[in-house]
Amino acid sequence: MERLQKVIAESGITSRRKAEELIVDGKVRVNGEIVTTLGTKVSSSDEILVNNKMISKESKEYYLLNKPRGVVTTTKDDKNRKTVIDLIKTNTRIYPVGRLDYDTTGLLLLTNDGEFANLLTHPSKKVEKVYVAKLRGIITREAINKLKSGVVIDNIKLSSPRVKLKKINKSSNTCIVEITITEGKNHQVKNMFKEVGYEVLKLKREKLYFFTLDNLKSGDYRKLTPKEVSRVYNIKNK
Ligand code: URA
Repeated sequence: MERLQKVIAESGITSRRKAEELIVDGKVRVNGEIVTTLGTKVSSSDEILVNNKMISKESKEYYLLNKPRGVVTTTKDDKNRKTVIDLIKTNTRIYPVGRLDYDTTGLLLLTNDGEFANLLTHPSKKVEKVYVAKLRGIITREAINKLKSGVVIDNIKLSSPRVKLKKINKSSNTCIVEITITEGKNHQVKNMFKEVGYEVLKLKREKLYFFTLDNLKSGDYRKLTPKEVSRVYNIKNK
């Protein structure tokens, strides 16, 4: 049994919030009866009509995108900027799993499967994310050790990341650092480096859980395989 507003939202016709409004407004019938109580439980055998139209379960879609710079990770942008959804050809209401900043590039998953998204983003699951950052200046051993001991941001002590210095460029006074984190706080990587005194000039996510970019070019995407989707569902048993 599932909550009526969730079932309506998962049919793909509208968001969960709008589904709640439709229920309260008396636009929803379950087995012929108007239902206005939010949270009414329904099963797959119940017949649900919204505005007199029968809803059906939407098939699930899963994408892996190599996000370019200058694209927002939302479904709609109030400043009319290009969104990650604009890059994917589908009529299904998909949304991003987690977030990358406007100027961050790299691996982003998108889906219409809320449970899948939740498994990958829930803090308790501690899913690893690998980022490669270009920093202004050349990071010191001391700063790396400070990062590794777990910095405090907004009064929250973050768990210890893995940190690897990959490259030093003395002439441009920059370096490339790989950092692996398990949380997904807003601007987390930029804030972590800021905390130890470094500005992130470029940021790319190269890995999330077992997903990698492989040969996907910037702006390109592919569908996930059923095997990959079920590997994500295995997180449940972790
Ligand atoms: N950390 C950031 O600072 N930005 C991102 O886009 C992702 C992680």
